[in-house]
Amino acid sequence: MLCAEENELLTRVGPGTPMGELMRRYWIPAAFSNQIEKADGPPVRVRLMGENLVLFRDSNGNPGLLGEYCPHRTASLFYGRNEEGGLRCVYHGVKFDIHGKCLDVPCVPPGSNVKDQVRAKSYPCIERGDIVWTYMGPPEHKPEFPDLEWALVPSAQRFSTRHIQECNWLQGLEGGFDASHLSFLHSGLVDMRRGRTDHDRRIVPTKYEVLPLDFGFVVAGGRELENGNTSWHVDVMLFPFHKIIPSVPLGAHIWAPIDDENTMLYSINFHPDRPLTDQDLERELEWRGIHTDNIPGTDMAKANRANDYMIDRELQASGKSYTGIRGLGVQDCAMQESMGPIADRTQEFLFVGDSGIVRIRKLLLKALRDFADGKPLIGMDPAGYRVRSFRHECPPGVTLAEVVNEKIRTDKFSA
Ligand code: FES
Ligand SMILES: [Fe+2]
Repeated sequence: MLCAEENELLTRVGPGTPMGELMRRYWIPAAFSNQIEKADGPPVRVRLMGENLVLFRDSNGNPGLLGEYCPHRTASLFYGRNEEGGLRCVYHGVKFDIHGKCLDVPCVPPGSNVKDQVRAKSYPCIERGDIVWTYMGPPEHKPEFPDLEWALVPSAQRFSTRHIQECNWLQGLEGGFDASHLSFLHSGLVDMRRGRTDHDRRIVPTKYEVLPLDFGFVVAGGRELENGNTSWHVDVMLFPFHKIIPSVPLGAHIWAPIDDENTMLYSINFHPDRPLTDQDLERELEWRGIHTDNIPGTDMAKANRANDYMIDRELQASGKSYTGIRGLGVQDCAMQESMGPIADRTQEFLFVGDSGIVRIRKLLLKALRDFADGKPLIGMDPAGYRVRSFRHECPPGVTLAEVVNEKIRTDKFSA
């Protein structure tokens, strides 16, 4: 449970808000590269961190992200002509390059120097892992792009989708690190196919730990086994909104805020060493796994809030699915969105299994305090991001910190 003020601090991401300013110090995904496939092709609208923007690829193939509203009289640049090294507003013909520099003002008499005075809002872009990322913070603080493992592998080794969550980013992130929901929300057919019994599915972790590290933190759930060992499930959270999933193939999420009440969830499966095969993705795609089946031409899942996620009450009653909702991604969306656009965390009654969530909130609040105090930011070393989530069984007496130290770095994994 949080007080109203803390809830506001953690959830608001618009310009000038504490969390909004902190997140703007990191690279944020704006769109898939193939959404602006061709040089001089059609621009796309991007809403990010509460700001309306337009993304386009210029004649040289470079992505540019401009404020949507033309600085002349605020017409939308989305309708613009993308030609000869810039985006030209179709209202009065003013043209800007990817840096926001004005290239042409054909609607004023020759000799005017207005071209040198007007600028469009622009944010720098970089392409990594078939995604266009942008940096929306102060130019002098622009960090290097982090070594996210899934973004470093060739395209054939990666499968990515995205869908909109109609709720605040923190609901998504908290859901991603909620250790005790797996045995309930996501139980059903998938577990049965893996040969788990109903009883197995109900086993929840008995130990919850969160360790702050240089890239963010790890969230660990531990179960004590009959042989005295502890089975750890360790999830990494990479600042400010990334998760690596220890699935086979490996997975990743990014909760990129569209605004305070909507989030673009990017979901990735990848193999570190070889191209993904249909077989790799079979389980993912049969029930869409962490991915969703979207309404064509949109980022909205077909099963969404407006149709109650196509909940099938017969399936729910049959015991084959705990929820009657198909797909892990849709199940998560259903619960996270059902809390409202911004969950009222003053109204919660937390259990022991939520101790990870409590620690995450404390760490995020601390990160905001440190940021306000001008302390160094978490996750500024690109190499720090070379980590994976994992599961590991260890004997009594071994601490979680020791396990993490031993297992988390990707350079220590055998391929
Ligand atoms: S509003 Fe864009 S050129 Fe006038
Ligand atoms: Fe989930």
